[in-house]
Amino acid sequence: MPPNVVRLAALADIHYAKNSQGQLASLFAQIAESADVLILAGDLTDYGQIDEARVLAKDLATVKIPIVAVLGNHDFESGQEKEISQTLLDVGVHMLDGDAWEHHGIGFAGVRGFCGGFGRGALGPWGEKIIKDFVHEAVQEALKLESALARLKSEHRVVLMHYSPIRATVEGESPEIFPFLGSSRLEEPLTRFDVTAVFHGHAHKGAPEGATQTGIPVFNVAHAVLQATYPDRPPFRLFEVHTGEAQDHTVTSIGDRSRWGRRSSDRADGEQQSRSASPPATSTSNSTST
Ligand SMILES: [Fe+2]
Ligand SMILES: [Fe+2]
Repeated sequence: MPPNVVRLAALADIHYAKNSQGQLASLFAQIAESADVLILAGDLTDYGQIDEARVLAKDLATVKIPIVAVLGNHDFESGQEKEISQTLLDVGVHMLDGDAWEHHGIGFAGVRGFCGGFGRGALGPWGEKIIKDFVHEAVQEALKLESALARLKSEHRVVLMHYSPIRATVEGESPEIFPFLGSSRLEEPLTRFDVTAVFHGHAHKGAPEGATQTGIPVFNVAHAVLQATYPDRPPFRLFEVHTGEAQDHTVTSIGDRSRWGRRSSDRADGEQQSRSASPPATSTSNSTST
């Protein structure tokens, strides 16, 4: 029987470099003690090099809880994204690219996503072929997400992606680069499949929390965002998802006690205690790019 409460830890943009061995080992150990699943939402490496992925794989190999991850744009920088995925698959990481994975009654769907902008400012497929191709990439990522979500039969559907599906969680970045931080095209599948929560990264100076037009909670878990927003906590977010309760369609953030969801519930969450109260012993380098 799956547990009634599943704890999700989420983090993105760890940008592992060749010299990062052990850099987040203590953080990963804290996460493994606190959570049932670790979500990594892209930019796992700094320059998208296989050697960087090997360093990360070595650190992740010691994490004794399931890890589910997507790649980010940095992981594509050197054209070695397939090798990076394989390296992490080899140590048991569930790498999602339009794929679905279920654990303890929670379904996970993951894509990298893409950019193109938000709302009325979103780039449309009109004019030059290169513009159409650019828009097509975001459309394809949205279709991949839709197809992954369609395969999930679980009570809860959790989505991880690297780019943002909404504008709210990139607020804080320079408005000039908003169109390169995500795409509204990624939002439609979230609504259609009544997703429980969304985790992304990429916007290192963005906002930690937002919601889709229909109220689905969206969390920007970029490492730099968490460090800046919660300087007194380890740089990961921790959530509880309640399973086996059809009316409870929420995720509860552990640490700040905030509760996210579109449906009310009479469950008191004030008694929840964070098991990750001490600050991390390590930090990672902050890339100037996203
Ligand atoms: Fe990124
Ligand atoms: Fe990044």
